[in-house]
Amino acid sequence: MSGKEPLTFGGGGCNKNRLLIGGVIGFVVFAIITGLAVGIPLSKRSTDEENLARAKKILNEVPLIDGHNDLAWQYRAQAQNQVHQVNLAESLIGIWNTTHTDIPRIEQGQLRAQFWALYVPCDSQYIDAVRQSFDQMDTIKKFVARYPDVFRFVTTADGIMNEFNAGRFASLVGLEGGHSIDSSLGNLRMFYDLGVRYMAITHSCNTQGADNWKMDNADNTITPLNGLTDFGKLVIKEMNRLGMLVDLSHVSEKTMLDSLEVSTAPVIFSHSSVWAICNHNRNVRDNVLLKTKENGGVVMVNFYPGYINCAPNELPQATLAQVANHIDYIKNLTGVDHVGIGADYDGVPRVTVGLEDVSTYPALFAELARRGWTDAELKKLAGENLLPVLKNAEEVRDQMMKDEVPPYEDHIPNKQIKNTTCRSGPF
Ligand SMILES: *[C@@H]1O[C@H](CO)[C@@H](O)[C@H](O)[C@H]1NC(C)=O
Ligand SMILES: *[C@@H]1O[C@H](CO)[C@@H](O)[C@H](O)[C@H]1NC(C)=O
Ligand SMILES: *[C@@H]1O[C@H](CO)[C@@H](O)[C@H](O)[C@H]1NC(C)=O
Repeated sequence: MSGKEPLTFGGGGCNKNRLLIGGVIGFVVFAIITGLAVGIPLSKRSTDEENLARAKKILNEVPLIDGHNDLAWQYRAQAQNQVHQVNLAESLIGIWNTTHTDIPRIEQGQLRAQFWALYVPCDSQYIDAVRQSFDQMDTIKKFVARYPDVFRFVTTADGIMNEFNAGRFASLVGLEGGHSIDSSLGNLRMFYDLGVRYMAITHSCNTQGADNWKMDNADNTITPLNGLTDFGKLVIKEMNRLGMLVDLSHVSEKTMLDSLEVSTAPVIFSHSSVWAICNHNRNVRDNVLLKTKENGGVVMVNFYPGYINCAPNELPQATLAQVANHIDYIKNLTGVDHVGIGADYDGVPRVTVGLEDVSTYPALFAELARRGWTDAELKKLAGENLLPVLKNAEEVRDQMMKDEVPPYEDHIPNKQIKNTTCRSGPF
């Protein structure tokens, strides 16, 4: 045969009967194929709906607590910290197009408690980091106070539950980087008094106390401190004494291990993912995950594509399924008690497909439900892992208070901080 053949269901013949029979058989085959094509997705779709319904139900029963959101940074970057410039009670889509957070989307995403990140860049270190940090703290307090029907400022595990039970949103603060205290345990205490309940021991710069994650990069040229210095160890002890959570996102592996050794309270990683899946040094290696299990801490998984989707498991685009893989991995290695959520919304230039903003958390829980996570396991991931960690840190504080452990008063001499011209005090 050559040339153009007319398409007939019955093959090559041109007999009318054969054509008719062929047509009937063809129609049946067509109907079956079409039925399959439509039918399979329909039944799958109903399962997906069931998983989503389950996810939504669970997120009504326990508070979803996210470890890290940089909305305060958006106020600084886009509005000079003037919180009246936008109305969070309305959708910011089309107003602050790159922003991932507003109250309608918080409600859609069933997010019920947030550690707002108090972040100032490392270029303020030894200059005006403390001043800038106070301003960011003020910004968080301002935007929390502006929506009292929704947001309430809280500082305790019980506070989170009280607001959850009252149908409101618990706002907590995490200080994102030890440079914000400018090597002063006094400043650390004052941040606690203002309501800060975790501190990342470093951001992406070393402090006088600790190495940051970049020390683990192959191209690092700075001489590391080798984890925690003696001062760094005192910072951890003082945080234990205060009842402030130790956050090991952003520190080097040696700093993680040293901190896990020193801390008498459980630690958190407020926004880090799994190194074994994505070899970025912001992520957590297996040995550290296992130490975190021993310590009773929680790794709150970051959704940022750069920490989710990289070698050796890099796809063209980061996906929701990949985030679920990171969460599954931690559960597989340590058991379900040591994993949480720290999405890093509003602190990232790119987002994962399917997890574009704070409205998307239920989709992630639905994916894990699909993978066989039980209701009890999903509740732990949402908030029931983090709550006891915070509670435990409060108990360590109470015990140290009972034992009358006094405030640590050691300090780093001004002259030891070689490259600052910004200090005038006697020590
Ligand atoms: C934001 O998005 C809206 C709607 O998509 C668009 O009309 C507007 O130009 C965008 N604004 C900016 C500054 O990108
Ligand atoms: C976790 O364990 C389950 C069950 O054994 C397995 O199917 C899954 O692939 C594992 N996930 C990861 C990311 O290791
Ligand atoms: C001070 O030194 C540190 C490294 O020790 C460096 O990262 C930082 O940029 C320096 N700061 C100034 C203001 O020179």
